[in-house]
Amino acid sequence: MFPLIREILAMPGDSRELRVRGWIRTKRDMKNLVFVELNDGSCLGGIQCTLDTAAFPESAETLAPLGTGAAVEITGKLVPSPGRGQAVEIAASEVLLAGDAPGEEKDGVPPYPLQKKRHSLEFLRELPHLRGRTNTLGAVMRVRSGLSFAVHRFFQSRGYQYLHTPVITGNDAEGAGALFRVTTLDPRQGGSRAGTGDYDRDFFGRETFLTVSGQLEAEAYAAALSRVYTFGPTFRAENSNTARHLAEFWMIEPETAFFRLPENMALAEDFLKFCLNSALENCREDLEFFDGRIEPGLIDTLQSAAESTFTHITYTDAMAELEKAGGFEYRPSWGCDLQSEHEKFLTEELIKGPVIVTDYPKEIKAFYMKMNGDGRTVRAMDVLVPRLGEIIGGSEREENLAALESRMEELGMDADRYSWYLDLRRYGTVPHAGFGLGFERLVQYVTGMANIRDVIPYPRAAGQLY
Ligand code: 4AD
Ligand code: MG
Repeated sequence: MFPLIREILAMPGDSRELRVRGWIRTKRDMKNLVFVELNDGSCLGGIQCTLDTAAFPESAETLAPLGTGAAVEITGKLVPSPGRGQAVEIAASEVLLAGDAPGEEKDGVPPYPLQKKRHSLEFLRELPHLRGRTNTLGAVMRVRSGLSFAVHRFFQSRGYQYLHTPVITGNDAEGAGALFRVTTLDPRQGGSRAGTGDYDRDFFGRETFLTVSGQLEAEAYAAALSRVYTFGPTFRAENSNTARHLAEFWMIEPETAFFRLPENMALAEDFLKFCLNSALENCREDLEFFDGRIEPGLIDTLQSAAESTFTHITYTDAMAELEKAGGFEYRPSWGCDLQSEHEKFLTEELIKGPVIVTDYPKEIKAFYMKMNGDGRTVRAMDVLVPRLGEIIGGSEREENLAALESRMEELGMDADRYSWYLDLRRYGTVPHAGFGLGFERLVQYVTGMANIRDVIPYPRAAGQLY
């Protein structure tokens, strides 16, 4: 395989002959020399290529009309660079055009929209198919890829099996009703209306949705393989148009048999720190870019979070702190969900670092959570981080059949639909716990990117399908 620019930049400038492929970032003419900065996305930096136009007139002619965005293959010698900012450069002897990207309208093709000047992230969002060629989005996607690999390394090295849970499902795992319907019926032909019981004409002969979480299926397999994790796309039809919600996002959900809440909290903390350390080690150049351009102080923050011991606080204590502090738009009171301003206060002012909030009121958490002895709170845990708020949500699960049935009845849930889930409590039930990490929130945390739409290649959010 031919070398990538990342590999070439690490080679010695010993005049070896090589060919480099990529897209022109900038081109400058100086007397008899043309300087081209070529980037192939393998790393942040590009490689500088210089062409002596007098010595290689044919290539000079090829290069002359080209500008930012054009794809070329350049052959030359790798030599020490006299310029600043790079150790080596290519003394080019041949330039071949792969694909032009005209700077001005040409043969009916509008000019390449990503000319040299800086573009706003909002503008780039309108060009999801091209924005990966910018420094910022390129760096985000490399960090994203590196973090994905870290997720697998972490769980695989701890005996967890990677489980592929279904995307199409018949149940609402969170009981929150934020579901996308899956149907082959055409709404223009009458479709099927919720509540009409008309789904027997539909593809599966029943109502189906896109999954909001693989947790329930993961629980089934934790009761078979002991330790499992999912890592896949999940879908929520929440109409929350915020900088940290997507309609389609990726989630990592470990589920562990024989785990109680404290072990689950420790796993979440180890996991998050492992991801941070892995990014600090393996994505250094990109993180330095984010630290310099996007979020000053980022590396220090990540470093200190990775070295810290996460603070634990119960929901009840957190509420008391919030009530004491006061001055919020939403007045905190026991029983209410934590608003982002409350999460901000806890992580950025009270604790100044990641915090795990536990034992929430049962009313604001999902049906499957294990009830505490007080009958009012459940063994839930949310990991909150500065800047973002909730990054992980999880709990110990109710493994007792009678307790789970009565909670489902209380909530008016259809037990028939969940009979397979109740089977897990009928046959060989064990204590177990798990959590879900929103992968895009992790990428946001690690890169400092303010908007979740800029950390996934093709963002899907309410009213926006780019
Ligand atoms: O807290 P959530 O809803 O928990 C669950 O889905 C559980 N089934 C997880 C489990 O115990 N196995 O979601 C988990 C995480 C959140 O903490 C958040 O990071 C992320 O998923 N998340 C979203 N990320 C982007 N866009 C959205 N709309 C999100 N909703 C949740
Ligand atoms: Mg949650």
